[in-house]
Amino acid sequence: MRAVVFSAGTTVCSEVPEPEPGAGELLVAVSSAGLNGADLLQRAGHYPPPPGHREDRPGLEIAGRVVGLGAGARRFALGDAVMGIVGGEGQAELAVIHERVAMPVPAALPLEVAGGFPEVFLTAHDALVTQAQLTSGERVLVTGAAGGVGTAAVQLAAALGAEVVAEVRNPLQRAAVGALGATAVGPEEVAAHGPFDVVAELVGGPNLPRDLASLSLGGRVVVIGLGGGAATSLDLGLLLQRRARLFGTTLRNRPLEEKAIVARRVERQVLPLLERQVVRVLVEASYPLDDAAAAYERFTKGAKLGKVLLVNTAEPAR
Ligand SMILES: NC(=O)c1ccc[n+]([C@@H]2O[C@H](COP(=O)([O-])OP(=O)(O)OC[C@H]3O[C@@H](n4cnc5c(N)ncnc54)[C@H](OP(=O)(O)O)[C@@H]3O)[C@@H](O)[C@H]2O)c1
Repeated sequence: MRAVVFSAGTTVCSEVPEPEPGAGELLVAVSSAGLNGADLLQRAGHYPPPPGHREDRPGLEIAGRVVGLGAGARRFALGDAVMGIVGGEGQAELAVIHERVAMPVPAALPLEVAGGFPEVFLTAHDALVTQAQLTSGERVLVTGAAGGVGTAAVQLAAALGAEVVAEVRNPLQRAAVGALGATAVGPEEVAAHGPFDVVAELVGGPNLPRDLASLSLGGRVVVIGLGGGAATSLDLGLLLQRRARLFGTTLRNRPLEEKAIVARRVERQVLPLLERQVVRVLVEASYPLDDAAAAYERFTKGAKLGKVLLVNTAEPAR
């Protein structure tokens, strides 16, 4: 089968052996697979995949049809449309996923788009709802809001009934992000739109002093991404005065059990929103698997609204 392979710093699509589903796993004919910042870090040698996955084979999220069942797998049947996060090797014609982290694909979501859902919506839902405990009526700031996680976070927070301010540095993208249910502003305007009960920090260190200064009493800052840098200098007096909480999160290094819990929550709380098209997967661009190098180049360039996807055109569209 064909798969994306990192080879001496380059990204190619090569013939590799087909994977075999282990106990409790599904073999999936991949229709679409999203690109993520973690793939770029893995390519640069800075973010090794979890044990059991190859360092030269990227891909954290997939959607497609079940074409094989490992021993004891019984949540899904052959032919079912599934999507979910994987430890790696998802950017391929075939991939394996544990049935416990797999989710059914709602009829309203085409399979060639569904591969852009799992990583960003699981991350955004877990960070905002489960960890930061965002509730209806609260004020939330989403930084880096035009990207994959940002567009998911804005839509989820708006659907929850929160008042959303979205930080979008590219002026050309503000109207589109605003249309997702937010007041979209440039970085220099954010402080004037506070205070915030919750900040979903997708850019990182440089924003933290402002985030803390813009918090309301009992506010929470959840650090999700560090694309703008990891280092910062903070006035912890603000943390005390605001009785605030500052914490970080990752999905990839969690055990299967925890990932499965996140997936079940998203199944219950977000898939109905997808089905009713209250939230959607924004796709900046899709590329055939054989054009993986071009897809990675597009991802690296930035100024995206939502996701960059790899699609297997040989898969029948739903
Ligand atoms: N912790 C986790 O579990 C987890 C899971 C998924 C993703 N992440 C991380 O979260 C971050 C966002 O992920 P994503 O998939 O949404 O990435 P993405 O699609 O590349 O979006 C990143 C967004 O942040 C903006 N941005 C980047 N650097 C910025 C800066 N210095 N100032 C202002 N805006 C900046 C980008 O704007 P431009 O387009 O203008 O560059 C873009 O809109 C990444 O760092 C990713 O690695 C973490």
